[in-house]
Amino acid sequence: MTTTTGVQAPTGAVGSAHTRLEGRDKVTGAARFSGEVPFPELAHGWLVLSTVPRGRIRSVQDGPVLDMPGVLAVLHQGNAPRVTIDYVGMLGRPNPVIGLFQHDRVPFAGWPVALVVAETSEQAREAAEALVVQYETEPHDVDFRADHPDAYTPRSSPMVEVETTKGDLEARLDASTVVVDEEYTTPEEHHNAMEPHAATARWEGGRLDVIDSNQGSTWVVSELAQLFSLDPASVRIRSEHVGGAFGSKGLAPHLVAAVMATTVLRRPVRVVLTRRQMFALVGYRSPTAQRVRIGADADGRFRAFEHLAQSVTSTVHEFIESSAALGRVMYDADAHHTRHRIVRLDVPTPTWMRAPGEAPGSFALESALDELAEKCGVDPIELRLRNEPERGPVSGLPFSSRNVAACFEEGARRFGWADRDPRPGLRREGRWLLGTGTAAATYPSGVSPSTATVTAEPDGGFTVRINAADIGTGARTAMALVAADALEVRPDRVRVRIADSDLGPAAIAGGSMGTRSWAWAVTVAANELRERMALGGVVPPEGITTRSDTAEAVGALAAKERHSFGAQFAQVAVDTDTGEVRVRRLLGVFAAGTIVNPLTARSQLVGGMTWGLSMALHEEAVRDRATGAPVGADLAGYHYATHADVPLIEADWVDDPVPGDPIGIKGIGEIGIVGVAAAIANAVWHATGVRHRDLPIRPDRVLRAAEEVRRREAGGGARSA
Ligand code: MOS
Repeated sequence: MTTTTGVQAPTGAVGSAHTRLEGRDKVTGAARFSGEVPFPELAHGWLVLSTVPRGRIRSVQDGPVLDMPGVLAVLHQGNAPRVTIDYVGMLGRPNPVIGLFQHDRVPFAGWPVALVVAETSEQAREAAEALVVQYETEPHDVDFRADHPDAYTPRSSPMVEVETTKGDLEARLDASTVVVDEEYTTPEEHHNAMEPHAATARWEGGRLDVIDSNQGSTWVVSELAQLFSLDPASVRIRSEHVGGAFGSKGLAPHLVAAVMATTVLRRPVRVVLTRRQMFALVGYRSPTAQRVRIGADADGRFRAFEHLAQSVTSTVHEFIESSAALGRVMYDADAHHTRHRIVRLDVPTPTWMRAPGEAPGSFALESALDELAEKCGVDPIELRLRNEPERGPVSGLPFSSRNVAACFEEGARRFGWADRDPRPGLRREGRWLLGTGTAAATYPSGVSPSTATVTAEPDGGFTVRINAADIGTGARTAMALVAADALEVRPDRVRVRIADSDLGPAAIAGGSMGTRSWAWAVTVAANELRERMALGGVVPPEGITTRSDTAEAVGALAAKERHSFGAQFAQVAVDTDTGEVRVRRLLGVFAAGTIVNPLTARSQLVGGMTWGLSMALHEEAVRDRATGAPVGADLAGYHYATHADVPLIEADWVDDPVPGDPIGIKGIGEIGIVGVAAAIANAVWHATGVRHRDLPIRPDRVLRAAEEVRRREAGGGARSA
């Protein structure tokens, strides 16, 4: 059947709420995730991880295990296919953990030492647990702390500017009327997406055919091809559905192991990680030790600003948690200094975790702002507004748009901030002390090149093809809305195909860049198709297809400071007899450009804010000094917010036009978490009069602080409250 083309009125699809296109499949179980796609002749691999934190593998005693039922192979450093990690990928040098089974060194507890492959997953697991690996151990150090003697400033990093300096900091601090100089810490935290990492690999028609759970197969194909010295065109990766990622799903060891095994066995092999393995193998958020120094005039205007951040990395790879980066965007001063340092310990390499840098960095920075507001006697919102910069404080570039003030104004109005008594420790309700706090939020609004095709089908529908990854965000739905508006048709006429590397290169679902990057490519292709169809004519049986590639346009973008902004508000109740902190209300108001789908956008922002609450009060991975591994590495031992911890959370946004921007969308995946922990800590101070500079704000910390206050009061130290 063929239809004549015709132009319809714009649909206004972008900006109106739509449920996820794949929602029904997901809630009915019809949607298959990477560990569930059936394959004939499928074999199952089970990873064996080192039980020692540092040393050498002396022997892998695979003989007895090979005699166990169903076992097909045991891969280890003595027999595994060779790979090379000697390449520079999209994000610099690869994390050596993907170069598994290549040598006998063990750089951390949980390093992959073998893969047992069997007919069934149960057989593989049983054999993996029976496998005896002998080690020579060496002394290890997993103890991250602010004064670690081995901390150093990296020379450079492909991901973040290590250090920035402007003006004479010490002189400006000396000349300041008010100075805040405090240290803050945040612990190791883990993403642990609901869907564990899973991959199935097979050789099919001369190509490596992979089903994997990841954040972007363009990226994973390119890494995998370099690792195995393959032509990227001979690798295909699909990831139809992804059950969360949060920065943890790039090329990970399970996929490399699956590719090695299918190459050796010549049958499809699946490797799925356990929760416990995820704690070792897919990265985590580094603990941080931060120092913030701000010098200001009596009215709170900054003269000197410094943010120093220290984080951990492994002995095999340099990763920087970029906690000191947000001050380069948020606040200016005559003298301005930011710097990252790292410590190499015998731990796995950390990685990006939802708002990497900004999440822990904003806890320190936005707590320090609150402390300065207290010292100056200036309202915390007013303090921020007085320090709104005209241009990028470090770059000197103009902002593409910066609606921080609008977020605070709207947030303050809705939260009832105007009635707030700034004095701490005054409001009691039964056993609870009550307080409110606020903090600013920001996250970069980046973009990277993507390609897309849009096809007018003879049946009157349209097919959008873009290698986007929908990691649970609603990306598929967002692309349907974007295409519908560009094509000027209703969204139900648009089909979307994503998550297949054969669709061509596209941005990853990461760095809050996915929607912005893909929407640009989809819009360009859809606009061209609409224009071609406006010329009239009949759609031929093969359809009419237009293609876009935004590489050149992305490269030509004017240099500007491009960021999302927001204002976070928290209300808490603190019981200083039990140490319990309850968050009663969170409100976040954001300026994030065009909001494509308000339904899923709100869900993303509320999700990020929930993470922030969890970060403030619960999350903390503790490494056992003896074993070098996290204690209780599962979702029972690792505390995080549950439903009962999460109160009313409201997320909303203000108008945020981005003049001259080709796409107007900024991205919302990460900004939701930024500033939440500081807003909660500031509210705890407002409730109790005690500053908490170490996360999480555990009951024992609240109790100890309350005890100190009581001791001080008993000793005659007068307090106004
Ligand atoms: Mo995000 S931490 O770049 O997935």
